[in-house]
Amino acid sequence: MNPLVKNQIASPVSPIAEDVAQGLSRSPKCLSPRLFYDAAGSDLFEQITELSEYYLTRTERAIFVAHAGEILQRAGDGLTLIELGAGTANKTKVIIGTLLKRQMSATFYPIDVSMSALEIAQEDLRRDFPALRVKPLVGDYSAGLMQLSGTPGRKLVLYIGSSIGNFEPDEAGALLGNIRKSLAPGDALLLGTDMVKDEAVLHAAYNDSQGVTAKFNLNILVRINRELGAEFDLSQFRHKAIWNPERSRMEMHLESVIAQNVDIADLGMNVYFQEDETIHTENSYKFTPEMVEQVLKEGGFELEQTWTDERKWFGVHLARVRTA
Ligand code: AVJ
Repeated sequence: MNPLVKNQIASPVSPIAEDVAQGLSRSPKCLSPRLFYDAAGSDLFEQITELSEYYLTRTERAIFVAHAGEILQRAGDGLTLIELGAGTANKTKVIIGTLLKRQMSATFYPIDVSMSALEIAQEDLRRDFPALRVKPLVGDYSAGLMQLSGTPGRKLVLYIGSSIGNFEPDEAGALLGNIRKSLAPGDALLLGTDMVKDEAVLHAAYNDSQGVTAKFNLNILVRINRELGAEFDLSQFRHKAIWNPERSRMEMHLESVIAQNVDIADLGMNVYFQEDETIHTENSYKFTPEMVEQVLKEGGFELEQTWTDERKWFGVHLARVRTA
């Protein structure tokens, strides 16, 4: 019998229970970056995007501001916009504003697991863009996209913000392949990726001087304490973010300051940590142009054009569903 099913019958466990139990039973220990985004974590991420060291969000936005017209022209006429992991769809406003100068009206489907973020997006967008039909979809990407697979017209799927950087290269290829399954020939994908750059710049972006990223990382433990009755002592774990040049990624870890045991009541687990042992909480892949082409190809897309900033720190890529 599936132990998860048995568990749910016995007692309603938190939806994060399975993820946490598995990750902390592994060697080396890990936790999924999905766990960052409870209400407090989403708020901390918003704060990160405003830090001077965290160039990603503002660089991508500047690319949109400079090139949205060209991007949309390249994507084609009569577009329906779909955004994966839209959140509050803040950056997307630049694209939407430009789209509505090119076409009288448009439909926008923001897809996100967070209902509250989508409500904010919807209210915001309807106020700013009366000509926009906003149709939020709550849930994961593939479910949302599947629902849209029959709708007529040319689609432009936005997968921006370097969200793809959280996935291993093979997972990222599979994810894009999954997106493509819901699309038709001629449909397009706009992908945002953070690019490889000077290590000092990367290091600063994930080790900000105000400690917001450290707080964001440690918030995973706060969440596990609250949702699973765990007893992580936050002062006994430290934030660690390092560049891994072999894998071309920034890694975030939580490092145990001392040797310690931590109880997780709702999982019936007692987890031992050696001194300096780490929990791997996130990978944030940094791309070369070759890596971008490769991952798109694996997903069944053809790269058509890349827009970047002066320093080539961030890339926005338009790709088309491959026909042959
Ligand atoms: C939202 C996944 C793009 O990898 O830079 C920010 C999350 N982690 N600071 C990223 C994050 C640490 C962010 N992404």
